Amino acid sequence: MDPLSRQALDAFWMPFTANRQFKANPRLLARADGMYYWSHDGRRILDAVAGLWCVNAGHNRREINDAVARQLATLDYAPTFQMGHPLAFEFAERLVEITPAGLDHVFFANSGSEAVDTALKIALAYHRVRGEASRQRLIGREKGYHGVGFGGISVGGIVNNRKFFGSLLPGVDHLRHTLDHEHNAFSRGLPEWGAHLADDLERLVALHDASTIAAVIVEPVQGSAGVILPPKGYLERLRDICDRHGILLIFDEVITGFGRLGAPFGAQFFDVMPDMITSAKGLTNGAIPMGAVFITKQIYDAFMQGPENAIELFHGYTYSAHPVACAAGLATLDIYLREELLTRARLLSDEWERAVHSLRGVPHVIDIRNIGLIGAIELEPRPNAPGARAYETLVKCYERGLLVRVTGDTIALSPPLIIERDQIETIVATLGEVLRAID
Ligand SMILES: Cc1ncc(COP(=O)(O)O)c(C=O)c1O
Repeated sequence: MDPLSRQALDAFWMPFTANRQFKANPRLLARADGMYYWSHDGRRILDAVAGLWCVNAGHNRREINDAVARQLATLDYAPTFQMGHPLAFEFAERLVEITPAGLDHVFFANSGSEAVDTALKIALAYHRVRGEASRQRLIGREKGYHGVGFGGISVGGIVNNRKFFGSLLPGVDHLRHTLDHEHNAFSRGLPEWGAHLADDLERLVALHDASTIAAVIVEPVQGSAGVILPPKGYLERLRDICDRHGILLIFDEVITGFGRLGAPFGAQFFDVMPDMITSAKGLTNGAIPMGAVFITKQIYDAFMQGPENAIELFHGYTYSAHPVACAAGLATLDIYLREELLTRARLLSDEWERAVHSLRGVPHVIDIRNIGLIGAIELEPRPNAPGARAYETLVKCYERGLLVRVTGDTIALSPPLIIERDQIETIVATLGEVLRAID
């Protein structure tokens, strides 16, 4: 059978994909190395999105591959319910050396979505074990993306991710998002306008009363909705309001974790400390699925009470701290530290900013946003065809050997952190050519 025929492509129901459109004109990635993919027909494709924001150290890292192979041959699987294996403890200990001070406990999951649901559950249970069981509300933000579990879509704020799936979790409310073209279009780095939008939390406290609110979850930089940056002072203000009202602050760092902004985590980059951080993706360089929640000692200790033989948290996954994922994660961390990748974005961010903003004035471009090694080029939507122009841009870039990502009419860029300056130039030059060529 022709591997590219409709029939051969039929069985796999592709996630977050226009299946019929894709299967009529498939783009298959067959292999990868460093900054590049190779397509099924042997063309080299520059990866401007680190796979899906995950391959921070670049593709096909031998140390990770070897660690995975060794681990499979040593201990393929071990449960972590009432049992343990050495790599789980070693990986957790190593991770908390790079997390913000105070976030010194780790709960392992298998994806960002699971990490988010874990953090939300811990927030609710934390208040309950402390005798504040009335704190049951969760607050998210418009345009937020927190994965696809019921918890994540409930606090998330992307309408298509929510509207098909019933009434979601009860008792959830949302802050406004911080995207504002009128005040902030073409800001370089953090926008000046909009810190006051954090005061929405005060309004929700006034409406619901703090005694009913468990936690607020936000992405320090919103990624999936098209790269939306926090205005200067916004995250500090959110932290302050949470502190005043005893509300936990969760940073969803599934994309900002592991060096994307130029610090190990966004919390360190912004110097705002949350009570929990969710992570995944860069945790294992995308090689093996894994997620993790970083938790303060204060929260962990609140659970460590009562009889010593009682399970403290009724939560966990068969594959929490899977040995092969831990091996991949440890090897990834070694690379990040040895090659100083967790801070490399800081060295490149000025160059990156200059490069992406050089697309200002190119046809269709209505806004450009950047921070660390993240960029977004927002296009004017075609009349009555939202997303069509950006999708055509993606297809044309791919034909010219560049992988970008689109959400709506925004092109999002998040290259591996090993990117070199000439590759930054290639990304921008290709995008410029394509945008000038399409209507
Ligand atoms: C901020 C954020 N949270 C959660 C997730 C979900 O992660 P996963 O797809 O691994 O479940 C993502 C994925 O892009 C994300 O960007």
